[in-house]
Amino acid sequence: MNKTRILVTRTVFDEVVSDLRGEFDVEMGAVEPYSTEELRRRASDKVALLVWADRIDVALLDSAPGLRAVCNMMVGYNNIDIAACTERGILATNTPGVLDDTTADMTWALLLAAARRVTESERWLRAGHWKGMPFTGMLGHDVHHATLGILGMGRIGRAVARRAAGFDMNVIYHNRTRLDPALEQAVGARYVSFHELLAESDFLSLNLPYAPENHHLIGAAELARMKHSAIIVNVARGGIIDDGALIEALRDRRIAGAGLDVYEGEPDFHRGFLELDNVALAPHLGSASHATRLAMARLAVSNMRAALAGERPPCLINSDAWEQRRQV
Ligand code: DGY
Repeated sequence: MNKTRILVTRTVFDEVVSDLRGEFDVEMGAVEPYSTEELRRRASDKVALLVWADRIDVALLDSAPGLRAVCNMMVGYNNIDIAACTERGILATNTPGVLDDTTADMTWALLLAAARRVTESERWLRAGHWKGMPFTGMLGHDVHHATLGILGMGRIGRAVARRAAGFDMNVIYHNRTRLDPALEQAVGARYVSFHELLAESDFLSLNLPYAPENHHLIGAAELARMKHSAIIVNVARGGIIDDGALIEALRDRRIAGAGLDVYEGEPDFHRGFLELDNVALAPHLGSASHATRLAMARLAVSNMRAALAGERPPCLINSDAWEQRRQV
């Protein structure tokens, strides 16, 4: 009997692929992404796709008439045209939950790096400048006892907030929906308006998903409301910050610094960041630990197995597609 044809768009762990090969006819991509045309061509005869940040748009979906499931190996899904999947009865899934702590850890890594000038001073040291550190050299910002503002208080935002207790911080947050008082108390965070969050935060961490309504939510006007001593950290998604405006604010020292893991148009990020010392940069590593990436791949596989077995996938994004399918 012919096995179901699936495409894994990027190289994943051997144990995940060998498990898949027992059950499916698996085609797997390389470490680098396919070009748009290549991805479309390879997806055209597949029944399910396991994807990693690849753009799944109308043109691709139209060229793959047998497709039944698109399973993202990540939690954010702004790379997938969900409405187009739903229209075609294709189930779309993601991997929430398994990467919360790892992504929260990365938020802290960049927050601390920007605050204490870790990446800047490493460049200085490697360049051979360390002849004796001036008493007033490389002074950073204290994290302990400062105010941490969190924009987006979902699972990752809450994991970031919990970690702040160890730094004796005052934690404030803003979210579309206010948390229950019991949850606020558990994470030790106080709800404030968006404007208060901007004005009061010493460190502002973005932990919300990208959606068109969040595009450039942090632009020149919002940056102007922040303290001159503030540091902004983005481990959420590119496009939430207007990167051009952020570069200007950092260059003019209208805010003190930034820690960034995500960028507009990544991997073609704004090269203006490279000219600045007051920003710690990482190449979208939020969930990049071995254990977490393995958990993400496995969860994506569980989603795909369920979808192909006619069961509701555990992390279904478009429940409308599922309902339509059941009504047929
Ligand atoms: C996600 O899962 O959306 C993360 O950005 C991947 O690191």
